[in-house]
Amino acid sequence: MTPQVNDALDENEQLKADELRALQLDRLRTTLHRAYEHVPLYRRKFDAAGIHPDDCRSLSDLSRFPCTTKADLREAYPFGMFAVPMEQVRRLHASSGTTGRPTVVGYTDGDLSTWADLVARSIRAAGGRPGDKVHVAYGYGLFTGGLGAHYGAERLGCTVIPASGGMTARQVQLIQDFRPEVIMVTPSYLLTLIDEFEAQGIDPRSTSLRTAILGAEPWTEEMRREIEGRLAINAVDIYGLSEVIGPGVAQECVETKDGLHIWEDHFYPEVLDPLTDEVLPEGETGELTFTSLTKEAMPVIRYRTRDLTRLLPGTARPAFRRMEKITGRSDDMLIIRGVNLYPTQIEEIVLRTDQLAPHFQLRLTREGRLDRLTVRAEARPGALPQQRAAAAAELVRAVKDHIGVTVAAEVVDPETLERSVGKIRRVVDDRG
Ligand code: DLL
Repeated sequence: MTPQVNDALDENEQLKADELRALQLDRLRTTLHRAYEHVPLYRRKFDAAGIHPDDCRSLSDLSRFPCTTKADLREAYPFGMFAVPMEQVRRLHASSGTTGRPTVVGYTDGDLSTWADLVARSIRAAGGRPGDKVHVAYGYGLFTGGLGAHYGAERLGCTVIPASGGMTARQVQLIQDFRPEVIMVTPSYLLTLIDEFEAQGIDPRSTSLRTAILGAEPWTEEMRREIEGRLAINAVDIYGLSEVIGPGVAQECVETKDGLHIWEDHFYPEVLDPLTDEVLPEGETGELTFTSLTKEAMPVIRYRTRDLTRLLPGTARPAFRRMEKITGRSDDMLIIRGVNLYPTQIEEIVLRTDQLAPHFQLRLTREGRLDRLTVRAEARPGALPQQRAAAAAELVRAVKDHIGVTVAAEVVDPETLERSVGKIRRVVDDRG
């Protein structure tokens, strides 16, 4: 893939569907061999399943290979999943590891170059162009957001402003002074920045920004409307995970804003039934799983992301399938009085409720043997007491109608809930 110097799509983005499938099969076979020959964990798992890389004769044969889970990666901590000698590993990243050991990922020079190419492709699909200034407010460090966005923007030929997360007042100053066209940030931190613009008396619609590339956490169409309305900007979705490469696994195209095109020349997606592990047909929702097709340092075979979505046919990039915006992770699912609920469902409702700001938190408590969920949402500045009471009642009613569960609602003063500087924490578990 050559670096982008103009608006033209890169070579692989222009492949016909059958050409893409042929390329995928070729790359898949190479990857299966690489994994089997160089990573003991894969050899053990393939042998136990009685399958060999040579058995992969078509893309559908992949479903006969065992899946890989986060637990497998933890077992191999820190470097047991690497398929190349350490001298060839040029960089390490790691997941935050909020539960148990972190998972470590390694990149060769080639992997870093592929990653930069894919983030460059993503920024271009989002509407960014060479010569644009890109303000990167994803965190830099072991998290893949900052450095992933950074090198992709450089690869596209942009000027990068490596702001990282935090120091919100200064971010606003930088955006005012440096006048970037593009911002890459989590949607929740972008809301924090918009509030800061307003707090400083600056109309957020007057900034130089015209494209926001938002990801690393789930966000809804309602949130897109809120952000686009308040910033006068195009807000598009970017998806990725460290185990697979980082940001740039899939990207929404600005011309259609209809879900994320998966960069299938590098990552082969499958959606599995979470109960039976069967591969689901296009259009059915289940657990997204990826097989890397070109990664050298750390190939992943059928890595279970725990993210829930469905595959859809390509639109703006016809050969590449899309994934629907992620509504939740299996880990984020709350079960309240027997009803399954995802924080994004509450986000949709909060954002549709008059006089509520887009800042909310879900608090879990226990009452006897039952879990109780309280939605704490901030009032919009200036909301009157009776409007706040009406908003709380409306929230309870809408959650009951749409999700089928009874929750409590608390409308709190503006600026009282914790603000995000990166990935937001929606659920506060006070069940003791
Ligand atoms: O969050 C990589 C990334 C950075 C993606 C910047 C986009 C932008 P991890 O920290 O490994 O990597 O977390 C990966 O975050 O499995 C999803 O649950 C969630 N996630 C990432 N992007 C999206 C998105 C980065 N666009 C985990 N929508 C994934 C919903 C997302 N969830």
